[in-house]
Order: sequence, then C-alpha cells, then structure tokens
Amino acid sequence: MTAALPESSPIIAIDGIEKNYATQDGQVVAALGPLSLTIARGSFTTIVGPSGCGKSTLLKLMAGLIVPSAGQIRLNGQIVDGPQAAIGMVFQMPVLLPWKTALDNVLLPARVLGLEQRSARERAQELLALVGLADFSRRYPHELSGGMQQRVAIARALMQDPEVLVMDEPFGALDAMTRELMSLELLRLWQQSGKTIVFVTHAITEAVFLGTSVLVMSDRPGRIADLVAVDLPAERSLDLISSDAFGVYTKRIRSKFSLPGWR
Ligand SMILES: Nc1ncnc2c1ncn2[C@@H]1O[C@H](COP(=O)(O)OP(=O)(O)OP(=O)(O)O)[C@@H](O)[C@H]1O
Ligand SMILES: [Mg+2]
Repeated sequence: MTAALPESSPIIAIDGIEKNYATQDGQVVAALGPLSLTIARGSFTTIVGPSGCGKSTLLKLMAGLIVPSAGQIRLNGQIVDGPQAAIGMVFQMPVLLPWKTALDNVLLPARVLGLEQRSARERAQELLALVGLADFSRRYPHELSGGMQQRVAIARALMQDPEVLVMDEPFGALDAMTRELMSLELLRLWQQSGKTIVFVTHAITEAVFLGTSVLVMSDRPGRIADLVAVDLPAERSLDLISSDAFGVYTKRIRSKFSLPGWR
C-alpha cells in the first residue's frame, strides 16, 4: 500500500519496459526499450531525444494509457495497469472538447472527480489566470490559438491536482516569450506544490533549465543514452542559460546526438 512506502522510495519505477506497435500493414515497430528508470518523488525529470524515439510512448505507458509489450511500471509501488488518477497528462497536441468553453474544458476533471461545483469553478478561473487566459474563459477552442489551447490543456491537467504531472512537449506551440514565461511559471508551481513532473521537450536548453535530471534517449527503439543530474542553483533565472556551468550540461547532452544543428 502507498502508506507503507518510505518517503525516499521512487514515485515511479520503470522496470525493463518495452513497447512494440503493430502497424496497419501487419508490421511490428519496436518503439521503445528495454528501458529501466526510477523517478524520485518531487523531482523534475526532463526527457530529450530524436523525433520518433519513443518519448510520447514512454509517457503514455507511465500514465497507463497504453499497455507495455514487456516489463512493468509501478506508481507508488502499485503496477500501472490502466489510467491513473494520480497522473495528470498534457498531450503533445492539445485535446479539448470543441463544444465546451475554455472554462468548461478546465472543469472536466472536477466533474469526473465529483468536486464541489462552486469551489471548482473558482479554482478553474484561478488556473486559467495562471496560464494567462483569465479573459478567455468563455471562448471555445476554435476561437483560441494553438498555444492558447495548449495552455487550457495545462490548466485542465492542474485542475486534477495530480501527484505526477506528465507533460509531452507542452510548450511546443508557444511563441518564444510565452514559452519562457510558462517555464518560469511551471518551475514556481513545481517548487510550491512539491509535485513530481516528467516533461518531454525537443529543446536541450529547456531540458537543462527546467530539469533536476535530464533523460537523454537514443534513436528508436528509445533507450537511455545518458541520464544527467543537473546541479544548478535551485533559484533559476533566465540569466542562468548564458552561464558556463549551464553550457557544460547542454554540451554534454548535445554530444549524444549526431544530428547537425540539434538544439
Ligand atoms: N499507434 C501507433 N501505431 C504504430 N506505430 C506507432 C504508434 N504510435 C507511435 N508509433 C511509432 O513508434 C515510434 C515512437 O513514437 P513516439 O510518438 O513515441 O515518438 P516521439 O519520441 O514522441 O516522437 P516526436 O518527438 O516526434 O513526438 C515512432 O516510430 C512511431 O511511428
Ligand atoms: Mg512525441
């Protein structure tokens, strides 16, 4: 049981996980693994790797949305065998209900979890304000830009108040300035809430800036190419990015990729 677990035990333990997909023309794609990894409670793990190496697959396995071909994942000691209420997921493409307003989309988990309506609405408004959309609560998804839709999806994941927030390139559709702002907001939220965050990004700089550890994945089928503990000041400001210490990390991670021009 969860209560019997020592505080120091990992919140997520991934053991020999593999995922193969069957394609429509009958072929089998080895997408991921074997991969083993533990994720410490309260950590901020960022994941980088080449396109198609299995990053989204790994996150969906953690969230219990797909079934592994081999190996297992434990969350708080329990085998993940289906969707988990303790895991909130922000998908690579924002998945919003088009016939519901931004506010009602954020409120969806509250309905599922049976939260009291009035306080849930207040919380949803707060979360929309947090992602910079206080004035857009009554808009429908098609009235919002891609980046705004993604911010609604982030607010919705936070509404669930999950122990673990799993985010698949959540800032990919945002412009550079909003992206920086959201990074700082996410760090603040992580520091205040003590949540565990797993965050996929294409940008090495973002991975080092946000992460307490960076998982670098190999080409498909994705395995661990490197696992980098980031030892930088806890108080992160954007100035840090231009420091020598920061450069040591980005250089180490970039060296794992043979692609020219990899960020
Ligand atoms: N449902 C599926 N059916 C068949 N193959 C799939 C399926 N989903 C993913 N794949 C394949 O598995 C591999 C890993 O996909 P995945 O989406 O996990 O990669 P990714 O690292 O997230 O890529 P990107 O950085 O482009 O988002 C890819 O080769 C992809 O084509
Ligand atoms: Mg992906």
